[in-house]
Amino acid sequence: MTSARPLYIPVILGTTRKGRMSAHAANLLVSEIGKREGVETDLIDIAKLPLPTDDAGAGVKDAGFSEKMSRADAIVIVSPEYNHGYSGLLKHVLDSCLKEYIHKPAGIVGVSAGPFGGTRVIENFLPVLRELGLVAIFWDVNFGNVSKVFDPSGKLLEEAYVRRTDKFLKELIWMAKTLRHGRDNISLD
Ligand SMILES: Cc1cc2nc3c(=O)[nH]c(=O)nc-3n(C[C@H](O)[C@H](O)[C@H](O)COP(=O)(O)O)c2cc1C
Repeated sequence: MTSARPLYIPVILGTTRKGRMSAHAANLLVSEIGKREGVETDLIDIAKLPLPTDDAGAGVKDAGFSEKMSRADAIVIVSPEYNHGYSGLLKHVLDSCLKEYIHKPAGIVGVSAGPFGGTRVIENFLPVLRELGLVAIFWDVNFGNVSKVFDPSGKLLEEAYVRRTDKFLKELIWMAKTLRHGRDNISLD
């Protein structure tokens, strides 16, 4: 079941807000994934995707984002909690693809100013992931009270998050390998 081809697990930074703390969480995830042998990653900053807002779905598909989603074996979605939901622009970006996601695992990292670490945004995400054909893993990372977790420069102040991220990534990578094996070897018919 092992493959010489590295796994590709990009991290989507799901907000365009100026001063976004989610960027620190996304950078930490990219750095932790990058330490793993046989796994490649990328930061996909939705602020840098040239998606029009006068159309939706496949009508605004960006070739570069679509190619990354096709290549991905799993995705990490870093989502801030905005009024207990995800950012509208993150949904707009995710909606631009569909077949690219099928039978691939997704892990969600919640980021919030309040103490719950985006647990509400994560719960709200689950039906969306399912409809996109993604498979939600059962670990999350919850950055609650995020202004105490990172300093303004992005330095991690709470080492416990490295252990939590490790647990999350172990599960995500296991799912990525398992579902890649399924996509490559097991027919639906
Ligand atoms: C429109 C908006 C709504 C928000 N709603 C919530 C919320 O429901 N719960 C919460 O804990 N924080 C809320 N926040 C604060 C964010 O969670 C906080 O800014 C956190 O750092 C993650 O977002 P960021 O990446 O934009 O910084 C909200 C922020 C904005 C801009």
